[in-house]
Amino acid sequence: MIRVGLAGLGYWGPNLARNFDDLSDLVWLCDLSTDLLERFGARYPNARTTARFEDLLEDESLQAIVVATPVTTHFDLARQALAAGKHVFVEKPPALSASEADELVALAEEHDLVLLPGHLLLYHPAVAKMKALIDSGELGDIRYLYGNRQNLGQIRIDENALWSLGVHDLSVILHLLGEEPIEVWARGESFIHKGVEDVVFCYLRFPSGVVAHMHLSWLDPHKMRKMTVVGSKKMAVFDDMELERKVTVYDKGTEQRAESYGEWRTRTGDIYIPKIPNDEPLRLECRHFLSLAAGDGDQMTAAREGAVVVRVLEQLQASLERAPV
Ligand SMILES: NC(=O)c1ccc[n+]([C@@H]2O[C@H](COP(=O)([O-])OP(=O)(O)OC[C@H]3O[C@@H](n4cnc5c(N)ncnc54)[C@H](O)[C@@H]3O)[C@@H](O)[C@H]2O)c1
Repeated sequence: MIRVGLAGLGYWGPNLARNFDDLSDLVWLCDLSTDLLERFGARYPNARTTARFEDLLEDESLQAIVVATPVTTHFDLARQALAAGKHVFVEKPPALSASEADELVALAEEHDLVLLPGHLLLYHPAVAKMKALIDSGELGDIRYLYGNRQNLGQIRIDENALWSLGVHDLSVILHLLGEEPIEVWARGESFIHKGVEDVVFCYLRFPSGVVAHMHLSWLDPHKMRKMTVVGSKKMAVFDDMELERKVTVYDKGTEQRAESYGEWRTRTGDIYIPKIPNDEPLRLECRHFLSLAAGDGDQMTAAREGAVVVRVLEQLQASLERAPV
């Protein structure tokens, strides 16, 4: 059993505590709030509680640290944990700049440690299905894809909608396409807190010619968690708000009939719903981290992919800050 310490017991940390308590030896809980330490200390009596992150670093028997603190602290805490020789699971994004993300990857590589950025959706069985549909060629050539991540709330002030929400769709888009964009564009508006965009629209173009769009907002009447992929043969939609229809495949497209002198027409065929396993993505993510920490699998891939996500976020942020024409 890997000995794990968790920092951050706010909104998201308790989900990680539950999983790591089930799957590993959860021996430390760390938060700045004494109320949270009391509450979760009572729930996990085998774990020691502390407000000092250093206690985790100084415990030589501790093998891994999970960081679920606010995004502005990720780089610093992850860096300290790696430097202290601990495997690190850090919530997304692992850092707020590409150079910091690269520094974490280099540190993990140098010390032969796991650095897993918490890109939860990459563990979603529906994303695995979308990837299989693309890679098998069932959808044909991918033409474009777009993500909708909208809701009313959760309003954040330490990161904008691009970094808070876009990080999810971006990690999925990069994973599905397996390439990095050559052109990015973003526009957004801050309505609630000056300088923190509540709504962001992004456009990305890839070397293969595929283009992607993201609509990100915490100021919207709809709760949407959707990714649509349009291929030359079929189209597929991953809708995380659906309970039973997570992925829908549409045999729809366009075709050029030989006898019609090059004229295009639309074609609509069957619509089907593949079976998607009901596994909890966070469970799979925590399991993956523990197996990497135990020495199984490729340790560096996830760390490098996490750094690419940060690099593209940084490019989109630079576009967001540029004056529109
Ligand atoms: N993967 C997902 O789907 C998902 C969902 C929600 C949040 N998150 C991520 O989880 C992280 C935490 O988000 P949240 O919504 O739980 O935030 P939160 O503000 O509710 O909780 C953060 C907690 O960290 C504690 N904290 C702050 N600095 C600390 C430090 N130096 N040492 C120890 N504890 C410290 C705070 O006291 C607070 O209790 C963020 O990075 C967020 O992006 C991920």
